[in-house]
Amino acid sequence: MKIEERTVAEYHGRPVKIFDLENEHGLKARLMNYGATLVSLLVPDRAGHLEDITLGYDSFEGYLGNNPYFGATVGRFANRIGGARFVLGGREYLLARNEGPNHLHGGLKGFDKVMWEAGPVSDSHSVGVRFSYLSPDGEEGYPGNLDCQVTYLLNENDELHLAYLATTDRPTHVNLTHHSYFNLAGSRKENILEHELQIIASRFTPADEHLIPTGEIKEVAGTPLDFLKPQAIGRRLGELAAGYDHNFVLDSQGGLALAARVVEPESGRVMELYTTEPGLQFYSGNFLDGTIRGKGGRPYGRHSGFCLEPQHFPDSPNKPQFPTTVLKAGEIFKSLTVFKFLVV
Ligand code: BGC
Repeated sequence: MKIEERTVAEYHGRPVKIFDLENEHGLKARLMNYGATLVSLLVPDRAGHLEDITLGYDSFEGYLGNNPYFGATVGRFANRIGGARFVLGGREYLLARNEGPNHLHGGLKGFDKVMWEAGPVSDSHSVGVRFSYLSPDGEEGYPGNLDCQVTYLLNENDELHLAYLATTDRPTHVNLTHHSYFNLAGSRKENILEHELQIIASRFTPADEHLIPTGEIKEVAGTPLDFLKPQAIGRRLGELAAGYDHNFVLDSQGGLALAARVVEPESGRVMELYTTEPGLQFYSGNFLDGTIRGKGGRPYGRHSGFCLEPQHFPDSPNKPQFPTTVLKAGEIFKSLTVFKFLVV
């Protein structure tokens, strides 16, 4: 197991650091302190050929431009909060509006756009990086000083563990996620439509045209959202006006459990996702339109990557029937997500 650290740029007087992790099978994960970002992930195919399976940029500057959260840590609140407001403890809090009247992915300057403290960590079978960030009271409108930690660990079982911790000094809302765009075919295929996806979720949270949940929970049976048996992402995508951008209610609520499995038939690469979170946002890269040129100058067109974002449900602060996202002083928010790689 190896870890290497270097400084690649300066941002507001602080060093932008890259950490390269590698395990004995050659899996390589590159992390950056700006946004606590996963910059690249090199994984072998069935012939042992390594390729980067995530979308992103070749240089730090790319991440400062038009960046739809490539590989980022998203917070304080992943996905949307309707009307960019919530009431907590009898008081109304107004959040940054960065998507029409709504709040998306933590606001104008969410956790994806801040510099995290970073340092290497390791144990007998893994190497990684611990990122920490103190989000001050009032940031993007949220109450409470929120102390956050995200630890990425790569181990010899070809797993990348993402462990989240947060504490606050006043009641607030927290919903942290990871926002990598994956294409398990690497650069061999322009889109992810042939990837076979399984999501262990019998239900989802329907949403309105602005992607704010209506508050209902419905069955996936009989809809294009039924991924209980594996199916190609592209098979029924055309039945949805805008493609997939839905929060699935995972069958397992509580405890680390398999949430999704993705197979890329040509390369044989398989990604399994385990999480302790109750929800999973499946986004099929609908808003990518070819204007972004990413790694190797490659234009990222519609469906060139997919995201599977373990999270609490969107707009939970305004939906008391959803699992709560309230964190109080003295409590510890904890969450774990594992990406596991294998071949078939
Ligand atoms: C959301 C999409 C959004 C994308 C990039 C995803 O998490 O579900 O609606 O366009 O992030 O912002």
